[in-house]
Amino acid sequence: MPNVIIIGANRGIGLGFAKLFSKHGDWKVYATTRNVQDLGELGNIDENISIYQLDVVKSDDVLNLSREFENKNIDLIIHNAGVYGHNMTREEVMEVNSLAPFKVIDSLMPALLRGDHKKIAILTSQMGARNGGKTPTGVYGASKAALNDKFRIIESEWRKRGISSLVFHPGWVKTDMGGSSAPVEIKESVMGMYGVLEELCLENSGRFMNWKGMELSW
Ligand SMILES: NC(=O)c1ccc[n+]([C@@H]2O[C@H](COP(=O)([O-])OP(=O)(O)OC[C@H]3O[C@@H](n4cnc5c(N)ncnc54)[C@H](OP(=O)(O)O)[C@@H]3O)[C@@H](O)[C@H]2O)c1
Repeated sequence: MPNVIIIGANRGIGLGFAKLFSKHGDWKVYATTRNVQDLGELGNIDENISIYQLDVVKSDDVLNLSREFENKNIDLIIHNAGVYGHNMTREEVMEVNSLAPFKVIDSLMPALLRGDHKKIAILTSQMGARNGGKTPTGVYGASKAALNDKFRIIESEWRKRGISSLVFHPGWVKTDMGGSSAPVEIKESVMGMYGVLEELCLENSGRFMNWKGMELSW
């Protein structure tokens, strides 16, 4: 049975992924949340989901998570955790959205390299597209642009190690971040991304995709 680890799975799109993979039946699901004392819906999906504590910007948490996977394999990493940045400094937003995904993925790399599928997906945003080379003006867009830049550099190294990866724009999705006027339902977004992940392989690795399977420009 393949397994997936979903980083930031307690609400929004991450919770949607946890529900989708666990209902699918042929996936073992590992999920992370910042607050294991208050799992909310994540605690009621399926008793077979294994849940781990992780604040992506806390190095002790990242180290502890990597220790949990010292003797396990991972087939697919979905790094979903992200912030829009309300009431946060630019540095804090950059830390969560641009730097933490690579630190977390790095810490799980030995487990991923032992897995059969060796796939990585990171949630970015179309707001991080540079459109004509310009850095987006808002902090959120700039942080996702920085994430995309780093992804493009590191992806070729990952591919040499047999890992296929992509970054996703999930759509404008009805979540706490996307708001209630967002046109895309969580279920629609995650089902679309699931289909794209099924097709992900070394030959098409390195792309910026949306939830409908369309390739976006950087
Ligand atoms: N919704 C949209 O329209 C949209 C559009 C484009 C891209 N995205 C991207 O899609 C991803 C998911 O978005 P969403 O709409 O589901 O957002 P959301 O509803 O605000 O949920 C964000 C998730 O990230 C987690 N998180 C935030 N900071 C974290 C940290 N330091 N450590 C660990 N987990 C942390 C949150 O955990 P807590 O509950 O502990 O805060 C929560 O589980 C994000 O990367 C976002 O940028 C969303």
